[in-house]
Amino acid sequence: MGIPIPEITLNDGVTIPVVGLGTYTLKGCQGADAIQSAIDERGYRLIDSAYNYENEGTVGEAVRRSSVSREELKITSKLPGRYQEYKKAVITIEESLYRANLDYYDLYLIHWPNPKQDNYLEAWQALIDAKKKGLIRSIGVCNFLPEHLERLHRETGVMPSINQIELHPLFNQEQQRKWHKVNNVTTQSWSPLARANEVLQNSTLQQIAEKHNKSISQVILRWHYQLGAISIPKSSSPERQFENISIFDFTLDEADMNLILGLNQTDGRINNQDPAIYEEF
Ligand SMILES: NC(=O)c1ccc[n+]([C@@H]2O[C@H](COP(=O)([O-])OP(=O)(O)OC[C@H]3O[C@@H](n4cnc5c(N)ncnc54)[C@H](OP(=O)(O)O)[C@@H]3O)[C@@H](O)[C@H]2O)c1
Repeated sequence: MGIPIPEITLNDGVTIPVVGLGTYTLKGCQGADAIQSAIDERGYRLIDSAYNYENEGTVGEAVRRSSVSREELKITSKLPGRYQEYKKAVITIEESLYRANLDYYDLYLIHWPNPKQDNYLEAWQALIDAKKKGLIRSIGVCNFLPEHLERLHRETGVMPSINQIELHPLFNQEQQRKWHKVNNVTTQSWSPLARANEVLQNSTLQQIAEKHNKSISQVILRWHYQLGAISIPKSSSPERQFENISIFDFTLDEADMNLILGLNQTDGRINNQDPAIYEEF
């Protein structure tokens, strides 16, 4: 059996695990095997996916193959930018469910705000209505700036439960995290390991890892946890999936936390995707 992963409570009362499995590029039979064993053998309960990853079917297959009951799992998908108009969003949520062959999603998120298109408010209304119909348990967004979140709340009275944002030691989103905390929005970190590129060679992280007898990835994921952010590291490998959730038996002290916060770079985004201007469809 896998490791029990602690949970936190969202602003709508739903609880979800503090670490989930990212699935970008996990597709087909290999992908379903990797996701199913992450659930059954390692103890993952939160699975991220998206309409645009073209793997909702793979995730649904892993859920059905798994010996863990559907009620114990938290499955996420996301609405793509090209379907943000209200009627298209309604149909896309239904299509997402058909693709996964699931009756409901635990979490459904707007993938990008695409502010130049200015359709995200309609998309949000579609998510609110799908939740009322029981198709989604919790609703949220990704990559929304405070001004976008404020507008959703002002116009609909409903604040997203989660904002999934790029967050890792090279781009730590201090201001955005503070805003989330004040407004009771849970932060979820995408690319929490900064895609495991040069960050895994960082000497500061290496020193902290040696001090705790852990890997650099474990130190980074523990840092997310202590920041109060849910991380969703993607791994296709059983060993690395296990490593990524083996983070609940040590604590980073204040000095460690501050050293990691000190690695922030103003231009630290992986692909320079600033939600104020970047668009994804
Ligand atoms: N909302 C959005 O706009 C958005 C954007 C990007 C991503 N996401 C979501 O966030 C998830 C995570 O982000 P990501 O996939 O971009 O990046 P990531 O989780 O930071 O890194 C994934 C990479 O790290 C490797 N890796 C994982 N664990 C490792 C470990 N312990 N040691 C060494 N290497 C390790 C993986 O390789 P192996 O598979 O070979 O282990 C993979 O190449 C995605 O999969 C997706 O679900 C959302």
